[in-house]
Amino acid sequence: MNILLFGPPGAGKGTQSSLLVSKRDFVQISTGDILRGAISRKTELGSLAQAFMSRGQLVPDDLVISLVKQALEQIKGDFILDGFPRTVAQAEALEVLLKGIEKEIERAIFISVPVGALVKRLSGRRVCKLCGSVFHIENKQPKLNGVCDSCGGELVQRDDDKESVIDERMRAYSKHTAPLIEYYKKLGKYFEVNGDKDEAAVFANIEEILNFT
Ligand code: AP5
Repeated sequence: MNILLFGPPGAGKGTQSSLLVSKRDFVQISTGDILRGAISRKTELGSLAQAFMSRGQLVPDDLVISLVKQALEQIKGDFILDGFPRTVAQAEALEVLLKGIEKEIERAIFISVPVGALVKRLSGRRVCKLCGSVFHIENKQPKLNGVCDSCGGELVQRDDDKESVIDERMRAYSKHTAPLIEYYKKLGKYFEVNGDKDEAAVFANIEEILNFT
């Protein structure tokens, strides 16, 4: 089964995708991770994307759609889309891409979290510079302060997790991504989980949705 996870910044899409990858053998396609990878490799795409991401704005649809097209063409097995689509235009393009490779999304799972909790999650998030593992200064502390439990890499704050940028990301979400709730309801693929619970409880709810027939 192929699924997508969507929701506001900090809802836990990446956290839940990692759990699905490790426990359910999904392959994750995260447009945020692909774009950050391009920025750190200093590619042309990376420098184009960075101008938008550092301001908390969405990267233009055509750029992101072509990245997802490449990723989907190489995919083997069931996949999770994390952070894509983020606009109705991206969702429509996804339908076309999937038709071309005879695949479909069976569940579009929205992770719902109140805004106040999101801001705390984002401003306290720390990520490993080497392997990308995600921590939080209060909710998910590493064993050793500032050091990744998985690989020993340095933990840093994402540039777009600074408070001034978080506001803009929230605005971009409300304007461009929230309309996807209605989009997937109309397609009969919409499922919602309460993301304002601990990671394991949210994951248990996602598993229930995956088993729902
Ligand atoms: P992206 O990386 O996709 O960012 P995002 O959607 O804003 O989501 P986040 O990664 O911030 O949060 P998340 O929901 O994955 O939460 P996480 O699990 O890390 O995109 C970044 C930028 O790239 C965008 O702003 C845009 O510019 C560009 N971009 C990407 N895709 C694009 C697209 N399709 N179109 C155009 N532009 C695109 O958790 C957050 C924190 O909360 C962590 O510290 C975690 O430990 C903690 N946490 C998680 N779950 C829980 C829980 N249940 N309880 C308590 N704490 C929790």
